[in-house]
Order: sequence, then C-alpha cells, then structure tokens
Amino acid sequence: MPAPQRLLMVCLGNICRSPMAEGALRARLHAAGLGMAVEVDSAGVGRWHVGNPPDPRAITCAARHGVDIAGLRARQLRPADHDAFDLLLCADASVLQAVRAAAPAGARARSALLLPWGGFAARTEIPDPYTGGMADFEHVWTLVDAAAAAIVARTAAHAQR
Ligand code: 4NP
Repeated sequence: MPAPQRLLMVCLGNICRSPMAEGALRARLHAAGLGMAVEVDSAGVGRWHVGNPPDPRAITCAARHGVDIAGLRARQLRPADHDAFDLLLCADASVLQAVRAAAPAGARARSALLLPWGGFAARTEIPDPYTGGMADFEHVWTLVDAAAAAIVARTAAHAQR
C-alpha cells in the first residue's frame, strides 16, 4: 500500500467547517476500509477557539449524520503543518490566502480549496456558518460530505493501482 496521504482541513476558527470536513472524511474513509490510507486532521488560521470543542451546532449536525466530532479540539495552523501534511485543504479563498501567506519558504505541502480539489463543481467556497443557523450547518455538511465522498473514491481508485 502507498504511504498514507496526509490531509489537513483548514478553516478560520477550526470549530465549524474544518472539524465537520474532518469528521465526514474520517467516517467515509473508515466505512470504505481506507482508514489507514489517509491521515486526516484539521486546524484554523485564527486562534480564538484554540482548545475548544467544535461549535455545538456542528456537533449536532454531524451527529445527525451519524458522525461523532465532539472529541475534536480546535488548534491553530502552525508552521510545521506545511511540512507534516501533503495537502492543506481550505474552506474558502480568504483561508487559502492566509495559509499561503503563512507558508514557510520551501515548505512542501500544497494548498487548495477543498471543494474544487474534491471535485465539487457547483461552488468553490464553503460558506462560514458561524453567524448562521442549523440550516447553514446542514448546508456545510452537504458540501464537505460530497467532497469527502469524492476524495474517498479517488483514494480507492489509487489504492487499487
Ligand atoms: P469556522 O467558523 O471557520 O468554520 O470554524 C468560524 C468560527 C469562529 C469564528 C469565525 C468563523 N469567529 O470569528 O470566532
């Protein structure tokens, strides 16, 4: 089996979008028997919520879809992440810009927007649900879960080669 691919989901606060993306991807990888093929983590470019669990609405939304993200704790993106991961997958364009601005010279990780990288064509950015309601969190779940499904399909195809 090839070396595990290391993917870091990145958003602003690491309490809404990126922990939901981490949870969705982990769950789909596990269900496909590919838990060992991809290492998944998440981080935020901001530090307001470091050490906190995901937003209660994110926890509730993930739980409705059978995924437990209550044990995750927010952390801030650190310089070493740019070498420890293969890909930093960002929730929106401003996060991607902040990630690229923070990349140390010569860092090996690539960075991209999660939805286009996952093959999701209908939109490129995951809207920030923080000031919204449960419907906004459900919309985020739909987006991150679609990207997760595409990443798993791609990983499965790669693993069979
Ligand atoms: P996230 O959402 O980036 O999806 O985790 C946010 C969480 C907190 C804040 C902004 C966005 N905040 O400003 O505290």
